[in-house]
Amino acid sequence: MTEHDEGFEVRRVASSELHELRRRVLRSNNPDVSVADPRDEERTSLHYGGFLGERLVVSASFYPSTSPVNPELTTYQLRYMATDFDAQGQGYGALVLDFASAELRSLGVEQVWANGRDTALGFYRATGWELVEGSEHLSAETRLPHTVIFKSL
Ligand SMILES: CC(C)(COP(=O)(O)OP(=O)(O)OC[C@H]1O[C@@H](n2cnc3c(N)ncnc32)[C@H](O)[C@@H]1OP(=O)(O)O)[C@@H](O)C(=O)NCCC(=O)NCCS
Repeated sequence: MTEHDEGFEVRRVASSELHELRRRVLRSNNPDVSVADPRDEERTSLHYGGFLGERLVVSASFYPSTSPVNPELTTYQLRYMATDFDAQGQGYGALVLDFASAELRSLGVEQVWANGRDTALGFYRATGWELVEGSEHLSAETRLPHTVIFKSL
């Protein structure tokens, strides 16, 4: 359940291990907002951490969820994709998605979808995701511009 790449390791973790990174990178370290998804503790939810040594630098969580793009497929939703500030741009986020995608595929998941932050769409394009035209919206939680994205596994 791990993947090594020059000191970088990806493994499945408990959602609680990801809260601090979620809050710092995705919520401006605001102590007053929730960084938990109601589905976090469900058995079928999958949480991944990317580690440099013992230090967590990437978080990504996947939840079984009907896709707004292809509701007939077996699909998971990605949330809380984040790489710590000083570790961004070094390929770690992409490695975590690759690792998670391989596990999800082996579980029979056909497609993943997400509400992608518009400022991160370059990352998603570079890692093979597609944008849904006309799906641009403001997130209810952050009020930031998002677009629905998906990737076939
Ligand atoms: C978006 C984010 C998760 C990307 O993680 P990362 O570890 O920095 O990304 P990687 O280094 O693995 O980048 C993989 C590819 O995406 C590209 N990329 C990464 N961020 C990009 C961006 N903002 N715009 C354009 N391209 C980007 C990289 O250049 C790289 O391309 P390459 O394979 O052609 O070299 C990270 O920058 C982040 O946490 N941002 C702040 C939080 C956020 O917006 N999260 C997404 C919420 S939906």
